[in-house]
Amino acid sequence: MTKKTIKNICCIGAGYVGGPTMAVIAQKCPHINVTVVDINEQRIADWNDADLDKLPVYEPGLAEVVAEARGRNLFFSTDVDKAIAEAEMIFMSVNTPTKTYGVGKGMAADLKFVELCARQIACVAKNDKIVVEKSTLPVRTAQAIRTILDSTGNGVNFQVLSNPEFLAEGTAIKDLHAPDRVLIGGTLDKAGLDAIESLVEVYSNWVPRENIITTRVWSSELSKLTANAFLAQRVSSINAISALCEKTGADVDEVAKAIGMDSRIGAKFLKASVGFGGSCFQKDILNLVYLCRHFNLPEVAEYWQQVVKMNDYQKHRFAKNIIDTLFNTVSGKKIAFLGWAFKKDTNDTRETAAMYVADELLQDRAEIHVYDPKVTAEQIYADLEYLQTHRVGIYVAQGEAMSMEEIKQLVKVHKTPYKAIEQAHAVAVLTEWDEFKTYDWQKIYNNMLKPAFVFDGRNITDKEQLENVGFDVYNIGKGE
Ligand code: UDX
Ligand code: UDX
Repeated sequence: MTKKTIKNICCIGAGYVGGPTMAVIAQKCPHINVTVVDINEQRIADWNDADLDKLPVYEPGLAEVVAEARGRNLFFSTDVDKAIAEAEMIFMSVNTPTKTYGVGKGMAADLKFVELCARQIACVAKNDKIVVEKSTLPVRTAQAIRTILDSTGNGVNFQVLSNPEFLAEGTAIKDLHAPDRVLIGGTLDKAGLDAIESLVEVYSNWVPRENIITTRVWSSELSKLTANAFLAQRVSSINAISALCEKTGADVDEVAKAIGMDSRIGAKFLKASVGFGGSCFQKDILNLVYLCRHFNLPEVAEYWQQVVKMNDYQKHRFAKNIIDTLFNTVSGKKIAFLGWAFKKDTNDTRETAAMYVADELLQDRAEIHVYDPKVTAEQIYADLEYLQTHRVGIYVAQGEAMSMEEIKQLVKVHKTPYKAIEQAHAVAVLTEWDEFKTYDWQKIYNNMLKPAFVFDGRNITDKEQLENVGFDVYNIGKGE
């Protein structure tokens, strides 16, 4: 295989990663045709919708990028075979959830979709292809993909690269336009280096070459898991300190500021919260833990597992504090949730702390009234339904499964915050949406039952102001 100039890219998986990443590649490389395919017909229809508000992924700036490139050199399609056949380079961006069955249940990544894609590529390909892993994968998956491609294919040459995605949801377009670094892993023989160079060329249309780093495949795969583990560890570390702050009368935001100004530590990822969520942090750490156990490194496994345990504890601590404060029971009480997404500026709810907190309150038969600016009612019900049979973690594992009927009786979703809050006993802030800061808290107070409580799981409200209005306020990591 000699170095290829890429004219056609195919991406399998039109999700939170595949969609935005390919939209930006198409925007920045008008000379390359980019086709994003997905087995989910509705998703593809939504990506093709003339109304850009209907795009399946909400990301600031995404609609503009899609508007610029769609129909020019960016296409969304369900014809997977055709897109594979035409492309010189194929990105795999399918989901890799934590396994919910069999060996490695609750820990290992489920590679079923990745394997299916590899088999389909092998079956369809009539000429040489570069296959790029975008999905977060356990270390050594590239080797597995390579084995499938080489042993089931039509005798064509495949190169497998690892190109992990570091974009964060809510800032995906910004992160894609100006990434801290682009990481490409490949084999170090001539064919591998040529494939790496083909992908470097794609990115260098807008990313400075010095920000594109190349490594061996396994380093690249492990870097993704490690980056997420380190980021999550910072959040769990500050959340651990938040519990101590509450006992001692310190203020966790002051502590975070003070330590963050040490340039060796740095200011980012030190915001105490109700707990981290998202599709990656927990999954990637559990994956790392699984790998360490597999390689007989129990101490290393335990070290990282503690990051997830601390996160479970933080979510539980928040829910338990609501119950304790509301006189030891929330049964029949109305709790208004501001926010459901796992962070602001996204409609993604995977592993959101909100659903675990809701689940714990529902065990005590609370009534939950949710308002989120971007998450649909269907999604909220689907999350809670899923959780009934997929509880993981040591603090939420004990609960009984509720039927969908019971869930719908107890959980209501509203289109305005004021409706959600009407006659509530307490407001719980679960996501840090900017609009929550602008609310008329006097009006909210007037419409609530007294004593009126605010439990701010994101520390975005002004405690003093709310107390002046008359609220009883609980913040993460703020002692009296
Ligand atoms: C990404 C990464 O790929 C994942 O590894 C990472 O850990 C989280 O982020 P994401 O884009 O967020 O996944 O996942 P999702 O939004 O679920 O999108 C995956 C898409 O792939 C779905 O639309 C699904 O329909 C599609 N898919 C899945 C296929 O087209 N074919 C399959 O065989 C499986
Ligand atoms: C993360 C990584 O940042 C990204 O590089 C990788 O590609 C995918 O996983 P994402 O999950 O989209 O991105 O969001 P991120 O901003 O990392 O937030 C994850 C969770 O941590 C959110 O629930 C967020 O609210 C929480 N968080 C983050 C905190 O609680 N405090 C912080 O200081 C930072």
